[in-house]
Amino acid sequence: MIDLDGRVVLVTGAAGGIGAATARTVVRCGGDVVLHDVRPARRLAALAGELGDRAHAVAADLAEPHSVVELWQAALDWRGRVDVLVNNAGVYEPAAVDDDIERWTAAWNRTLAICLVSPASLCREAIRTFRGQAGGGIIVSLASRAAWRGEDPDYWHYAAAKAGVVAMTKTIARQYGRQGVTAYAVAPGFVDTPFNAPAVERHGLEMFAQDTGLGEVARPEDVANVIVFLASGLARHATGTTVDVNGASYVR
Ligand SMILES: NC(=O)c1ccc[n+]([C@@H]2O[C@H](COP(=O)([O-])OP(=O)(O)OC[C@H]3O[C@@H](n4cnc5c(N)ncnc54)[C@H](O)[C@@H]3O)[C@@H](O)[C@H]2O)c1
Repeated sequence: MIDLDGRVVLVTGAAGGIGAATARTVVRCGGDVVLHDVRPARRLAALAGELGDRAHAVAADLAEPHSVVELWQAALDWRGRVDVLVNNAGVYEPAAVDDDIERWTAAWNRTLAICLVSPASLCREAIRTFRGQAGGGIIVSLASRAAWRGEDPDYWHYAAAKAGVVAMTKTIARQYGRQGVTAYAVAPGFVDTPFNAPAVERHGLEMFAQDTGLGEVARPEDVANVIVFLASGLARHATGTTVDVNGASYVR
């Protein structure tokens, strides 16, 4: 049912858990994928090798929001178009209330840059392309359960960034739909990826599994399937919505 034949999808943070699963799913559904991550080597190069000529790798550090202009241009140059932007890259780095103010502010600025400002700047590039493109375009951005539920004590900035992604998505959907742009957010709970390695080391996986209605944690593929469904265009009238993928660990 999902057919991405002829579509080009840019996935940021494609070397990570959800990003790599999304890229593989895009290719399985017939699409071409621009794989982005912070470094060109290792995991990104390996994924590009695995996906062959259906994939093209581009590196950019999203801690530096100006880097998105070159990233978007490189994505466009590959096949001459981009149809879907998946804002997936993210970090989960602490800012403790007892940190000194310099460290605290640096942590806030870095998390906001990677998780909100760069995704917003990529949306800006995407809208400028999509509104003049036959068929328009689709934006899918990764939010989080934290946007509604809040987060652990050292992660207010992460929760605030993800709430920003939800508000940004609603605004884009309301204001650019007539110009051919649809926008969605996906809000995972706990997903078993490298992102959560420190938490799993501390608490074990079972604690997070027991927090869900399913009694199990999500795999990256569980999130990727929802992202690719939204990227397919089949849910056009759901524009502006956020889809929860949290195993009923937080039902709103
Ligand atoms: N794993 C979870 O439990 C969970 C829950 C809610 C939301 N999310 C969100 O899902 C998205 C993907 O998470 P994941 O679990 O796959 O994480 P992950 O750590 O496996 O992957 C994230 C990717 O983002 C990249 N990235 C980090 N900083 C970057 C930078 N400065 N420039 C460019 N790329 C950078 C990393 O290199 C990595 O490949 C994130 O936005 C995250 O906030 C994850």
